[in-house]
Parts: sequence; C-alpha cells; structure tokens
Amino acid sequence: MKTSPLSEGFGIEVTDIDLSAPLDDAAFGALRKAWFDSGVMVVRDQALTPDAQIAFARRFGDLAIHVMDQFLLPGHPEILVLSNRKRPDGTPEGFEDAGRYWHSDISYEERPALGSQLYAVEIPPEGGDTMFQDMVRAWETLPDDLKQRIEGRRALHSYTRNHKKNETQEGGRPAISAAQGARLTDVVHPIVRTVEDTGRKALYVNPGFTWAIEGMDEAEGRALLDALFAHSRDRAFRYVHKWRPGDLLCWDNRTVMHHATMYDPAYIRHMHRTTIRGPRPV
Ligand code: OGA
Ligand code: MN
Repeated sequence: MKTSPLSEGFGIEVTDIDLSAPLDDAAFGALRKAWFDSGVMVVRDQALTPDAQIAFARRFGDLAIHVMDQFLLPGHPEILVLSNRKRPDGTPEGFEDAGRYWHSDISYEERPALGSQLYAVEIPPEGGDTMFQDMVRAWETLPDDLKQRIEGRRALHSYTRNHKKNETQEGGRPAISAAQGARLTDVVHPIVRTVEDTGRKALYVNPGFTWAIEGMDEAEGRALLDALFAHSRDRAFRYVHKWRPGDLLCWDNRTVMHHATMYDPAYIRHMHRTTIRGPRPV
C-alpha cells in the first residue's frame, strides 16, 4: 500500500491495495489511521462487488440503512445507489440529486455517519466532482467572537426540512412516505464536536441539515448559523475530488462536509455508497 497527499490542505490517496481481498489487521489499522488522520481518502483502482464493499465497510462499524429506501440496492440495503440511470419502466435506479448542497451525511440522525464510502461504478468524462471542506480547520480559524457565541451550544438537524426545500426546486423529489417520515425525528447535536479518534475539535453544523440553535431566538440563531456556514465554505480549506473509474472515496463526516456538483445529464453517473454509523456526537 502506497500513500500520497491528495491536496496541499488535506486528503490522502492510497494505491497498490486490493480491498476485495482479505486485509490483515495491521494493514487495516494503517488504512483506518490514514483515513481518519486525513479526513478524505481515495483508494484507487478498485473492483468491488456490493458484497466486497459492504464487507470492507463493516470492519469500521455498524452500517446505516438510508431512509430513502426506494434507492437502496435490491438485495443489498446497506448500499445506497446514487444514479441518473432509469430502469426500462422509467423509474430511477438511484438517488439522482443527492447531496447537491454542503452537508455531513445523516447528521439528522441520533447516531450520524462516522464515515461514508462512495464507489464509482460509472462516471461522466467530466463534471460530477465532489467538494469537501475541512471542518477542523473551520473551527480552528473561526474568529474568537463566533467561538464565544457558540460555546456549549447545540443545533437542530432535520432531514424533513431539507427534503421540503429540495422538493420545491427544479426536477423536484419524490415525497417522503408515511413510513419514512416516522423514522425522521429532528435531533440536536453539539455545534462543536470532539472527534473520538484524535481528540481534535470540529465545527459540526451544515447548510443542508442544520436549521436552528437550541434555546436561541429563531432569527438570531439563523443569522449565527449563516455566519458559521459562510466561514466554513472558505476555499482555503477546500478539496475538490475529480473522480476516476474504480475510486473508492472515503470521508470522515465528523471532520469534513461535502457537496455534489452537476454534470452533463447525457452521461451516466452511477455510484454505490456504504455508510458507517458513528457514536452520538459529543
Ligand atoms: C453522498 C453524497 C456526493 C456526490 O454520497 O453522500 O453526498 O458527489 N455524494 O455524489
Ligand atoms: Mn452526502
């Protein structure tokens, strides 16, 4: 296994490893450390069946099953399909407009995602990049007055509010079913979290799913969140991933947020995501 930096700021590239073959504990431990030290890790040139991708993800912890269950891979609910491909009957094979805003995966759940692993099955020749922001740097560089205003505070995360907002956009989205809605209760998480593996602090709010600050007047909370979001989007701590076929892109949702970008819909973009559940943020 060989590693090299992905960008000047953060991220690591791993080559010369085959994740479909059994990985001994030492190699697995090295890979895990490389990932969590870097925030974003791409493992190049993989050929992963759904079973192999799931088996690899399971070594990191329990897997989350996405609430939008119409986009789970049939027979493999641990895999969320992101795709613009349609079945012969015209129904979508996957979630087409997933994540086209800054977010941290399933931060609206009590135990949000620790890591996500997205495998490129088919990618367009250009576009469809995935952008990342380093939220450890976002916290470290936050002006003192903002740090003081969020000290000890918690924020509200909600998927239903996100979904409603996206439903009204062009193209729309399928409505949340009653059964899906029953799973979606809003949660509160600390605005600054401490990452278990490293003890580092990271800003843990995102424009996709975070809507209010607990115990704060709504307008005041909104203005404060907007200031945090504006700071978090600073290009000084951004990495933009340009996909290659066979990439398994892994990100630590505790320390980075991410954003999908558009591509020419004449091309197919078909991806498989596994999601590792983390502990309740503290
Ligand atoms: C995701 C996601 C980004 C992308 O899979 O969680 O946000 O570029 N995807 O597809
Ligand atoms: Mn996402």
